[in-house]
Amino acid sequence: SRLTSSTSSSSPHLLRRCYGTESVPERKVAVLGAAGGIGQPLALLMKLNPLVSKLALYDIAGTPGVAADVSHINTRSEVAGYMGEEQLRQALEGSDVVVIPAGVPRKPGMTRDDLFNINAGIVKSLCAAISKYCPNALVNMISNPVNSTVPIAAEVFKKAGTYDEKKLFGVTTLDVVRAKTFYAGKAKVPVADVNVPVVGGHAGITILPLFSQATPKANLSDEEIVALTKRTQDGGTEVVEAKAGKGSATLSMAYAGAIFADACLKGLNGVPDVVECSFVQSNITELPFFASKVKLGKNGVEEVMGLGPLSDYEKQGLETLIPELKVSIEKGIKFANQN
Ligand code: NAD
Ligand code: LMR
Repeated sequence: SRLTSSTSSSSPHLLRRCYGTESVPERKVAVLGAAGGIGQPLALLMKLNPLVSKLALYDIAGTPGVAADVSHINTRSEVAGYMGEEQLRQALEGSDVVVIPAGVPRKPGMTRDDLFNINAGIVKSLCAAISKYCPNALVNMISNPVNSTVPIAAEVFKKAGTYDEKKLFGVTTLDVVRAKTFYAGKAKVPVADVNVPVVGGHAGITILPLFSQATPKANLSDEEIVALTKRTQDGGTEVVEAKAGKGSATLSMAYAGAIFADACLKGLNGVPDVVECSFVQSNITELPFFASKVKLGKNGVEEVMGLGPLSDYEKQGLETLIPELKVSIEKGIKFANQN
């Protein structure tokens, strides 16, 4: 996988570059919500990432235990746990990347938007702290509804005078992870070789996988493409229902979050051609935020890439998702400016 791709290199020089702590820059990553269902396995995966030198684990409760546990792993990063608002400053100061999986998850029957009332406030206060203590960090927003929490974050940063559109990312990697897995299964191709862009947003029909651009190419029928699209759009709900009240995707999300944070770190470190899909400020559609392929660089977003050629089915999907995504974006902006 890409998480461990550096270990599969046969070049001793490359191995040295990837693992020698002297030549790899110091990078601090903070996880906010680190004691939660996503936070804990994400903390583990970030501890395994050789690009991280400091790992700050913050939550309102439970972080001393998680930090003590993860800190015993014999990898590069120094781990520290921070608990409660009075320790948020220390958790954030000096961070290069802040990953936010703080907030409540769905139960069966709920939409992601049903989480808005609780999570909007959590995200708003965490982003206010980011603008004070680490205004230059890349922010990886996982908390739902991503279609609204990213615009909330942008507004909070704008008000604080610290907004940099190149540094705010809604994490949609789990949609890509799912699209790859489901496509590989249907197309009977090795999953490790699969690439599928997923654009739009991160909720229901706003999730638009572009299977017409999937590689390796496969001859799937229209019905199969429709089924794959729907399964990708409903992937989160599939997990929520299977967990039957015990929350939503945590392990696959931690994996996806770790992939995306790793891509951000690689970009910061100057690794060329790092491309991931993400929900960012964008002008490739009429909407102010949109998920598409993004090239990551030393300052965060280096280029928001275009959609590429779409099938008629995808064009139709794009048209239907725009009004729904627009409402969610506006709801976030309004919340941030009202309260
Ligand atoms: P969880 O309830 O298991 O964990 C959330 C953690 O956030 C808890 O430990 C809680 O104490 C903490 N928290 C609450 N308020 C906080 C605050 N003010 N500061 C710091 N921490 C705080 O939930 P989870 O399963 O880990 O999911 C977290 C969020 O991620 C949910 O909103 C969920 O919908 C979202 N999610 C997003 C994606 C995605 O693809 N973007 C995927 C899965 C889940
Ligand atoms: C997911 O896609 O798994 C997350 O957004 C969580 C959810 O509520 O579905």
